[in-house]
Amino acid sequence: MAIPVIDFSKLDGEERGNTLAQIANGCEEWGFFQLVNHGIPEELLERVKRVCSEWYKSEREEGFKNSTPVKLLNDLVESKSGEKLENVDWEDVITLLDDNEWPSHSSEFNETMKEYRYKLKKLAEKVMEVMDENLGLQKGYIKKALNSGKENQAFFGMKVSHYPPCPWPELVNGLRAHTDAGGVILLLQDEKVKGLQILKDDQWIDVEPLPNSIVINTGDLIEVLSNGRYKSVRHRVLATPDGNRRSIASFYNPSLKATIAPAPELKEPVTKEVDEAYPKFVFGDYMSVYAKQKFLPKEPRFQAVGSM
Ligand code: OGA
Ligand code: NI
Repeated sequence: MAIPVIDFSKLDGEERGNTLAQIANGCEEWGFFQLVNHGIPEELLERVKRVCSEWYKSEREEGFKNSTPVKLLNDLVESKSGEKLENVDWEDVITLLDDNEWPSHSSEFNETMKEYRYKLKKLAEKVMEVMDENLGLQKGYIKKALNSGKENQAFFGMKVSHYPPCPWPELVNGLRAHTDAGGVILLLQDEKVKGLQILKDDQWIDVEPLPNSIVINTGDLIEVLSNGRYKSVRHRVLATPDGNRRSIASFYNPSLKATIAPAPELKEPVTKEVDEAYPKFVFGDYMSVYAKQKFLPKEPRFQAVGSM
């Protein structure tokens, strides 16, 4: 069993109907799918991967050796407790946010990542339009829901992660199981080292590396906007003994001030359960809850934010 691989270029041709259906299936049944022929030039993707790896080697690799996960894992192994580390991830992360100062001083890194961000954001918007169409919403509905007014533009974050080789991969996760909080997530994963898995029907399934494909998944907010038609899916990254897995996850999220609620067109005749499952809330409030409960089931998060 593997997550759907979809040729995005077919959206513009005779096979449009079939491609829309494949994406609908990816959203409804899997919460994850891989796009090929997505229009982002291979040359750019190669550059993105190279600048991220170079940057990791020069700025981060040494520091990881003294990082918290390394210390905690060493302590755990010494203690011979037989337990697993449950409160950390074997991951090195930098986040590149819209308006933050970026940590790298290399202009090649900055320019490459800006170019990538610009193209990826356009791809995310195209994917959201497909979701509008599949859900029977007006074109642009999801984008508008995530961009509420001039002052509350969506923000586009990029998370550059490395999962260095781990001497005891059975004792720690690369990244603990979670669902993503926001809208649409676009992932460029390592072409060789695997590790990403999604939970489907109570089984963990590998997201197989497919060089230069973009893995798309939907976050908690799309679940809310779609009134549960598109469920955010739990996923995790396993630690691996060899290979340094690189992944670049990009998040198209609403502004913290945006109000999120199920699309009225998708609300069933109101029942108490549905109303309680998907409340209306301000995204910033959701993020406060998420920050504390990211690795726990999502339903209590919806409940908590609904009563704020
Ligand atoms: C995340 C995530 C997956 C990966 O950052 O939320 O799920 O492959 N990343 O790094
Ligand atoms: Ni995630």
